[in-house]
Amino acid sequence: MKISIGSDHAGFELKEHVKKYLESKGIEVVDEGTYSPDSVDYPVFAGKVAKDLQNKMVDYGILICGTGLGMSITANKFKNIYAALCLYPTMAKYARMHNNANILVMAGRLMGPTLAEETVDTFLSTNFEGGRHQRRIDEIKEIEK
Ligand code: RB5
Repeated sequence: MKISIGSDHAGFELKEHVKKYLESKGIEVVDEGTYSPDSVDYPVFAGKVAKDLQNKMVDYGILICGTGLGMSITANKFKNIYAALCLYPTMAKYARMHNNANILVMAGRLMGPTLAEETVDTFLSTNFEGGRHQRRIDEIKEIEK
């Protein structure tokens, strides 16, 4: 599995933690930055991770800003991107099972490292259920057109 990860300054510390956590599990990580705690603009990094997914370079994306809101809003402007803000594992479970989300968004200012690890684990280990949920995804794709 290969994952593209990005954050702004408010998500930098948690991004570094999650990156190391993923690598410790043998998952390949493309780190799209930011690379320091200096202030930056989150849309830049949401765009980089969204494009990695659009180009099929990676299986999933992870984005982290202070609240997760700016990253979610930005990433969802990109075609075929379904970014879900998940503040705890149950949200990650349904983001995959029902929404087939391909980017996990987390909140660096609201989540601790252990909660983030559990949220990542749940997101990566849960499959899309399809069925009636696929019909709803198809309705979203119609709106995208
Ligand atoms: C940065 O201060 C903060 O606005 C950003 O990380 C994010 O929370 C925006 O949605």
